[in-house]
Amino acid sequence: MEDLQLNGPHPALSRSITAEDPRYSELVDALFERNQKLLEENRLLAEMDEHRISLIACVSHELRTPLSYVMGYGSILQEGVMGELNPKQQNCLRKMMEGSEQLLRIISDLLVFSKMDAGKFALQLAPTNLAPLLDEVVRQMAPTFESNELTLELRLTVPLPEIQADADRLRQVLYNLLENASKFTPKGGRVTLSCRLAERGIRLEVVDNGIGIAPEHLDRIFERFYQIPGGDARQKKGSGLGLAITRDIIEGHGGAIKVVSSPEQGTAFKIFLPLPQ
Ligand SMILES: Nc1ncnc2c1ncn2[C@@H]1O[C@H](COP(=O)(O)OP(=O)(O)O)[C@@H](O)[C@H]1O
Ligand SMILES: [Mg+2]
Repeated sequence: MEDLQLNGPHPALSRSITAEDPRYSELVDALFERNQKLLEENRLLAEMDEHRISLIACVSHELRTPLSYVMGYGSILQEGVMGELNPKQQNCLRKMMEGSEQLLRIISDLLVFSKMDAGKFALQLAPTNLAPLLDEVVRQMAPTFESNELTLELRLTVPLPEIQADADRLRQVLYNLLENASKFTPKGGRVTLSCRLAERGIRLEVVDNGIGIAPEHLDRIFERFYQIPGGDARQKKGSGLGLAITRDIIEGHGGAIKVVSSPEQGTAFKIFLPLPQ
């Protein structure tokens, strides 16, 4: 007679029994019941996940409208339309606007994340010229770097061929990486964004000389919501979603991203984007 070898945490299930054993049907029933329970738990988890994702989508969408008021009126004040601001007021307002921009990026991370999870995320690929896109990103990020007393350098090896890309999503990747570099590099540090044509594609790199990442965290930083625990230098706000989204976007382009880092020395994120076939 065929033996049933049932392994598992339940002590009664860890022995070898035969079909003639009077406890056979009891054990089969127990297994069946356990299986049903697991299936039910899985269904509940999937349902919760769906609720969580639609809640994230809804909340982040709703947050954008009030935030656009804050930023809109903030820039009216900045332009001096309501009267000249003294330097201290300008400084306060600059910090408020930077905070709002950061919030906007977090919201947009959350929106993309909820769309990706709901399977609604599709890249809009079109011929894209990287040089002006990189220029624009660097110009946008310049105030953040200035206020953190960091140097941001753009190194372009031209000419660069056009690639098939979703320009908005690529901008988001670069904002994420540059924002991370600015958050995790102490004052006086240096960040370089470089782009060159390699053998089979484009190589993009964001290199900083900041606090770096210990080897045990290197694999985990691309996980959703993962943020390295730590002291003051790590007490920076974020969603922990940036790198997860970044990797999804790059891989969606048929590319790859990797990180090289050592604590106290700095970090390099290296991206490969393929050229059109
Ligand atoms: N350039 C970097 N230098 C040091 N640590 C970094 C760097 N970039 C990312 N990290 C670490 O990886 C974590 C995950 O990054 P990310 O997914 O962008 O989330 P967030 O920026 O919202 O915290 C960060 O919280 C940080 O601990
Ligand atoms: Mg980030």
